[in-house]
Amino acid sequence: MINDLLVKPSDSLESWPGSDILSTISARPGGAAANQAAWMAHLGADVTFAGRAGARDVAYHRRELARAGVRARLAADHEAETGSIVIMVAPDGERTMFTDRGANLRLQRSDLPARLLDDAAVLHLTGYTFCEPPLLEVALWLLGQARARGLAVTIDPGSAAFLDRMDPAAFLRWTEGAAVCFPNRDEAAVLTGETEPLAMASRLTRHYGIVVVKLGAAGCVLAARGEAPVPIAAHPARATDTTGAGDAFCGAFMSKWLAAVPATPGGRPASAALADLAAAAKFAVQVAATVVTRFGARPV
Ligand SMILES: Nc1ncnc2c1ncn2[C@@H]1O[C@H](COP(=O)(O)OP(=O)(O)OP(=O)(O)O)[C@@H](O)[C@H]1O
Ligand SMILES: [Mg+2]
Repeated sequence: MINDLLVKPSDSLESWPGSDILSTISARPGGAAANQAAWMAHLGADVTFAGRAGARDVAYHRRELARAGVRARLAADHEAETGSIVIMVAPDGERTMFTDRGANLRLQRSDLPARLLDDAAVLHLTGYTFCEPPLLEVALWLLGQARARGLAVTIDPGSAAFLDRMDPAAFLRWTEGAAVCFPNRDEAAVLTGETEPLAMASRLTRHYGIVVVKLGAAGCVLAARGEAPVPIAAHPARATDTTGAGDAFCGAFMSKWLAAVPATPGGRPASAALADLAAAAKFAVQVAATVVTRFGARPV
């Protein structure tokens, strides 16, 4: 769970060093998985989000998630603050993020009752849960619980910088066999060492059933194991703030994917036809384009 603080300076940072830079500043609920959950529920999926926040923010975040239709299980941390990110948005919409993970680093098994998985079809995790040893232990435990139940797993690697700092090969090993992986270009580059998106996507299908490499204004590449990768153009948009475009993309893709592949009795979504996956990706670029044209990462 993250408190986003979006800062959009009206002047260049060099305009008056050491004094005021007029800016538009807005506080928003955020966090990649929470944003994605909000988009999935907004688009009709049945979603439970589990996480941890500073005690004074729990009611606020629960309310914000409920507004999108997400059931939230938020553990209240009485010592650590909610994780927070200051996002500085440049005039072209590109952002720099200053990240303090706060209470997220104190997530523990008891915050995530395994019975939540009993009637789930999919477990989604972001790479942030693999970044620090105590969290990694929770992530690996959850993956084990999903595996034991025959649940599909989906992964958004989430941060090229964090992937690079942990061991990309270990990340591939931990998440091996996930049904879908959604890296952006930088994350896919760190995971594969490749420079071309088509090559990154093909290479990652050695580890995952479906791979969607998100390419910002260039759209995405969709790859399914055993099929040639398919480039899909972005939906044209004038970028104001790209924060959460990737989360909206994943949420939209997953809502369509899950609708196209009804879960089998064991819970695992059956394999989807490439045409259904391409339709899900085309829907995802449309939804993501709506997010880049305005401030904020959640559905309105
Ligand atoms: N400038 C843009 N114009 C149109 N569409 C865009 C633009 N930027 C991003 N998108 C859409 O959003 C999708 C996801 O964006 P991106 O590749 O930046 O993912 P990401 O890095 O995971 O994003 P996030 O900042 O949420 O982590 C892209 O695949 C594209 O469809
Ligand atoms: Mg992302």
